[in-house]
Amino acid sequence: MSTPPESAVLKIENVPVEDSSPAGGLISIWTINRPNKLNALNAEVNAAIKSACGWAEGNDDVRVIVFTGSPPETPPEGKRPKPHSFVAGADISEFEGKSSVEIRPIFDDNVWEYVWNLSKPTIAMVDGFALGGGSEIALSCDLRIATARSNFGTPEINLGLIPGGGGTQRLCRLLGYGRAMEMVMSGEMINGDEAHRIGLVNHLVEPDQLNSKTMEIAHNLASKSPYTIRVAKAAVRAALENPFSAGILAERDLFCALFDTEDMAIGVKAFLNRDKAEWTGA
Ligand code: COA
Repeated sequence: MSTPPESAVLKIENVPVEDSSPAGGLISIWTINRPNKLNALNAEVNAAIKSACGWAEGNDDVRVIVFTGSPPETPPEGKRPKPHSFVAGADISEFEGKSSVEIRPIFDDNVWEYVWNLSKPTIAMVDGFALGGGSEIALSCDLRIATARSNFGTPEINLGLIPGGGGTQRLCRLLGYGRAMEMVMSGEMINGDEAHRIGLVNHLVEPDQLNSKTMEIAHNLASKSPYTIRVAKAAVRAALENPFSAGILAERDLFCALFDTEDMAIGVKAFLNRDKAEWTGA
């Protein structure tokens, strides 16, 4: 198995998936590590995430990817601690002085599309601020698990901007037009409770349960056929890309094609024999 790209601003920890086959599967936990800047996404973080996406896509052992942010460090004597943060947005200091011509290439090849385009299941594990580009990382993941003390928002309006990492579109599709419009136009944050209530967050947990709940969900996803789960993700995504009737057809195509896979034969046989399916990933 190839080693993941190393970066001080993106820590990658690979946790073996027990009880799965093919053996050697991993849950890959990616921790954005700029706690003193509330894990804001600067060019170095973006490059590290893109590189890690390339590594994960090309590595069959990686079953599930978890995105999270580094917790605050102990502050120096006399200084207040920094708040908990998933990612407090794109690094605003990198916006200053840029023109549209300079910013465009960065956003044409942006980190959020890399995360969105991962074919494997992705989970955002959120404890603290998920703002702007940070909320867009969470929105680019398949699932969001968060604590009540988290805050989600798209405050770009307060910078004379709008979300640029897919936030307007993904919020609309996830929450509906009205809520998306209010978040984007007001720039106001909503806490974890509210985010959970409106469906922005899949599961709300206590801070000391965040890791275990996320890993429980990751292990469950990792226990499925790695091939079939990618097809499942593609099928649900088809609902976003297509008119309804075309989406139904896309689902039928994917469903029928699965009848030619080893894992479908294995899964059906295991059910009928009351056995545990031992997936081959083919
Ligand atoms: N870009 C760059 N730096 C950021 C940042 C961002 N998006 N978010 C926070 N930081 C930095 C702060 O500048 C500060 O750095 P410093 O200690 O070197 O001065 C550090 O992170 C801590 O943030 P601070 O503002 O002191 O914490 P706070 O508890 O007072 O406020 C927030 C927390 C999240 C409300 C506030 O940091 C904030 O509004 N951040 C920007 C959010 C945003 O607009 N995101 C969208 C960007 S497109």
